[in-house]
Amino acid sequence: MIKNISVLGAGTMGHSIASVFAMNGYKVCLYEKVEEVRNSAMEKIKFALEFMVKENYLASSVVESALSNITIYSDLVEATKEADYVIESVPENLTLKQNLFKELDAICPRKTIFASNTSSLPLKDMMAFISDDRKTRAMVCHWYNPAHLMPIVELSCFENMDMEVFDEVYEVYCKINKQPIKVLKDIPGLIANRMLHALAREVFSLMEMGAASPEDIDKALKFGPGFRSATTGMLEVADMGGLDIWCTVQDGLFKELNNSDKACDMLRNKVKDGKLGLKTGEGFFQYPGEIKEKVLNDFYKRLIVQLKTSQEYVR
Ligand SMILES: NC(=O)c1ccc[n+]([C@@H]2O[C@H](COP(=O)([O-])OP(=O)(O)OC[C@H]3O[C@@H](n4cnc5c(N)ncnc54)[C@H](O)[C@@H]3O)[C@@H](O)[C@H]2O)c1
Repeated sequence: MIKNISVLGAGTMGHSIASVFAMNGYKVCLYEKVEEVRNSAMEKIKFALEFMVKENYLASSVVESALSNITIYSDLVEATKEADYVIESVPENLTLKQNLFKELDAICPRKTIFASNTSSLPLKDMMAFISDDRKTRAMVCHWYNPAHLMPIVELSCFENMDMEVFDEVYEVYCKINKQPIKVLKDIPGLIANRMLHALAREVFSLMEMGAASPEDIDKALKFGPGFRSATTGMLEVADMGGLDIWCTVQDGLFKELNNSDKACDMLRNKVKDGKLGLKTGEGFFQYPGEIKEKVLNDFYKRLIVQLKTSQEYVR
């Protein structure tokens, strides 16, 4: 039974993942190598929890208990030696993750389940240096950013994974009110990022060809396909529209769509010019200093509205 959870790395994803387990009653050991990040992690977690309270999504009494459920460590052995489940969220670097899992394999008890929050690395490569026995308890558990507000977590595993263990992890994600997705193949990008980037390739290409203003391109997504996708999946929508229509439209339209196998020049040039989005003050839109915080907070507020609304249609 999973009781003790260790989260490795307290960066963008790690601190947020730790907060979700903690607010749902799990004891969390949060390991972070960098002192500065360690020192600010609790403040960031407190801010995220209090934001949810302010938006009437979380009971204020949960904040104290959640914070008391988290202990921060600078020592990997101390942070993981009693873990039932370890999820790493260290930078996306294969060698770093391989070495970390190898080290953990030597530290952790046999029962410990290993998980990676990788966005793109294959499970078999990350787990290359762990024992065959551990591979039956090793998986990808991929969260979306911001982890405390996005419901999806994608779970994938080796073919020989002990399915009782897999189901146990799946149940934990149900208990913490996430929407776990069982990914049946060890494929880069899993399910959600593959769909996202297929869409993003076309969105950026429409921008590059000047098909509409950036505002209108985003508006078309928000009030067109994105609007119904929030409540109704693509396959359900296709069934409702009629598969014959989809087949005809795709035969006509696919040859018109972008099918490049690399990022487009417009995107690459923006990166080259340091126009990286919110963090540098300009991307597709402008973000003068004073509105940066507001942009982020408004985004979090909209996600919370969506979270509350999703309780109406969740199955
Ligand atoms: N940021 C996202 O939107 C996002 C979304 C989903 C998944 N991911 C994945 O999550 C993982 C972490 O991403 P992030 O954005 O949180 O990165 P990040 O750089 O914000 O955080 C990583 C943290 O790990 C720490 N760290 C570095 N080396 C370490 C080590 N050897 N042991 C322990 N900690 C170490 C760093 O100090 C840092 O605080 C990556 O695999 C990434 O692909 C990121």
